[in-house]
Amino acid sequence: MTHKKTILSGMRPTGPLHLGHLAGALSNWRDLQDEYDCNYMVADWHALMSEYHNTESIKEYSRVMVAEWVACGIDPERSTIFIQSQVEYHAELHLILSCVTPIGWVERCPTYKEQLQQLASKDVNTYAFLGYPVLQAADILLYRASLVPVGHDQLPHLEITREIARRFNSVVGEVFPEPQAKLTEVPRLLGLDRRKMSKSYGNAVDLADEPEEIRKKIMSMITDPQRARRTDPGRPDYCNAHSYYEAFLPDEAPDVAEKCRTAAIGCVDCKKRLAEGLGDMLYPIRERRNQLLESGNELDGIIEQGTEAAHEKAEKTMTAVHEALGF
Ligand code: TRP
Ligand code: SF4
Repeated sequence: MTHKKTILSGMRPTGPLHLGHLAGALSNWRDLQDEYDCNYMVADWHALMSEYHNTESIKEYSRVMVAEWVACGIDPERSTIFIQSQVEYHAELHLILSCVTPIGWVERCPTYKEQLQQLASKDVNTYAFLGYPVLQAADILLYRASLVPVGHDQLPHLEITREIARRFNSVVGEVFPEPQAKLTEVPRLLGLDRRKMSKSYGNAVDLADEPEEIRKKIMSMITDPQRARRTDPGRPDYCNAHSYYEAFLPDEAPDVAEKCRTAAIGCVDCKKRLAEGLGDMLYPIRERRNQLLESGNELDGIIEQGTEAAHEKAEKTMTAVHEALGF
C-alpha cells in the first residue's frame, strides 16, 4: 500500500459541477484511484479568496461537491476526500511557507495578473489573493504528493510549488519531495454557445440537471453554422454537438459523424439524440448525488472519515516540518 505514489488535487467549491468537470478532472481522478494513493480536496479557503462576501455559498457548494465527486465514482474507501478548512495544518504550513517565499515569485506569477483582471468585479486585490499559489503549495506539500493532476492553467502554480519546496529544503531542512504536474489530455469541450464552458456564462450542462433541462440546453446548442438547410452536409469535426458525442457517447460518435456528413440526419434530431444519451449517462450520477444530499448522514460520514485520514497524513508531515524548524 505505502509503495503507491501519492496524488493530491483539488477544486474550488464555487458552483455546481458540469460536464466539463466530468470530462476533464473527474474521469481522470477516478481512473487514478487504482494505481495511486489519491487525496482529493475541496479547496474552500481558495474559494474564500474570491467569494469572501458570500461565505454561505462556499459551505453549501463544498457539500454538494463532495456528493458529486462520490456520485462520479470518486470512492471514499480508496481515496481520501476532504475539505481543506477542516485540516487546519493547511493554514499553518501556508504561513511557514510564506516565510521562505520571495514576494517576486508570487507577483510575477502569470495567473495572478490574469485573475486580477478577470475577477475585477470580485475585488481580489487582497493580501491573501497574492498568496494563492503559496496556499496551493501548502496543500500539495502537506501530503508530500509526488503527482498533481491538473490542467495547463495550473502549471505556474506547480512551478512555484517546486521552487518553494526546494527553497524550504535548502534553507530550513530536507522535508519535501518536488511534485510534478500530471497533465491529462482532455477533450476540449466548449460551452453550448461555443465560448469556454463556464458557470459564469451559464453555458454548461450541469451534472445535476434534470432531463428536461438537459434537453432545453442541448437544443439551444450552436452547431455547424454552415449547415443552413437540412439537406446541407455538416462538418462533425467542427460541430460542438459532435464533440459531446465523442466525450460522453463515444460508441455513437462515428455513426453520427457519418450521418452528419451525408446529411442523413438533421441537427434537431441529432441534438435530440444527444440530449437523451446525456440524460441516460447522467441519470445514475444525479440519483446518487441527490440521495447523498437528501439523507445527509452518509455524506457526513464520508467527509468525517476523509478529514480524519487527511489530518493523520498531514500531521506526519508537520512533525517533520516542526523538527526542521526546531520549534
Ligand atoms: N487552484 C486550483 C484550481 O483553481 C485548485 C487547487 C487548490 C488545487 N489547491 C490545489 C489544485 C492543490 C491542485 C492541487 O483549480
Ligand atoms: Fe452537429 Fe449533429 Fe448537426 Fe452534424 S448533424 S452539424 S454533428 S448537430
